[in-house]
Amino acid sequence: TKPIRVALLGCGTVGTQVVRLMAEQSRDLEARVGAPLELVGIAVRRPERHPDVPQDLLTTDAQALIDSDIDVVVEVIGGIDPVQGWLERALEAGTSVVSANKVLIAEAGAALHDIAERSGADLYYEAAVAGAIPILRPLSESLSGDRINRVIGIVNGTTNFILSRMDETGSSFAEALAEATDLGYAEADPTADVDGFDAASKAAILAGLAFHTPVVASDVYREGISNVTAADVASADEMGCTIKLLTICERVGEPGDEAVAVRVHPAMLPRSHPLAGVGDAFNAVFVEADAAGPLMFYGKGAGGAPTASAVLGDLVAAARNKVAHSLGAAVPRYAELPVRPMGKT
Ligand code: HSE
Repeated sequence: TKPIRVALLGCGTVGTQVVRLMAEQSRDLEARVGAPLELVGIAVRRPERHPDVPQDLLTTDAQALIDSDIDVVVEVIGGIDPVQGWLERALEAGTSVVSANKVLIAEAGAALHDIAERSGADLYYEAAVAGAIPILRPLSESLSGDRINRVIGIVNGTTNFILSRMDETGSSFAEALAEATDLGYAEADPTADVDGFDAASKAAILAGLAFHTPVVASDVYREGISNVTAADVASADEMGCTIKLLTICERVGEPGDEAVAVRVHPAMLPRSHPLAGVGDAFNAVFVEADAAGPLMFYGKGAGGAPTASAVLGDLVAAARNKVAHSLGAAVPRYAELPVRPMGKT
């Protein structure tokens, strides 16, 4: 089968890992997709800053790369401009899009989905929320036969690290933030994390999928953690609670007059709640559904390789659909490994 041509937009922490995993796992990925994945170009602003990726793939002309004969665009740049225009144009041309861009999806996800539906392209963004944790497809697909009532998440690793440190060591917010910065968790400008903007984008995406309703970041009530003091943490502890920055997406109101309410703010959480034990920079999402009951998803919410894992999963799905479309049939299943009888080594 002819190769699936992939363009990568951006090559930072996540993009570098996408390039590495595509190369290292090319045989397995080919078997799962039903065709080889060919990385045909990597669009970056400054090629000289990317010595670790194949130099002949680097280009500064993202538009020309997208307009060449591409099957799937993988976008790990972030932000609205100029990315939105590029992705719209790709989708309009029937090119599938895999994105890790929470800001763009939380702002323009519905419009991008409309274009994708019209052109028959796929649009996937599992990496945009909670990094490696598979949560978007469970919400939008696996649980789509159920009625979700509430989604409570810890979806920002930096603030969870800071609050966990304050809880464990009694340190101040400023001390814990300095530690997060030293360890490379917090950005040089940690505002998006600390003030809850990052979590608010993720909250909008979670709520939109859980409740099958378009939700944008500006619909989300938002309060950050910079006013949480060591005294707050200590008094929460006396009450058997810990303080977490929670993302809460809820179905509210009476039957017939229901609505979706979404908020991000620090909250006291009883230590007995499954989310209370989520420490360090980990993420978790707790879902309450009518028939399924409570569900908990836990894992690494940030970092190059964990986020690249989610990107690659989306890439395999989009590429498989492209192959199935060109075959006019489902991609044949393939046995990657032999099964070894128990007791034999
Ligand atoms: N700054 C984000 C966090 C990165 O700390 O969780 C992942 O979106």
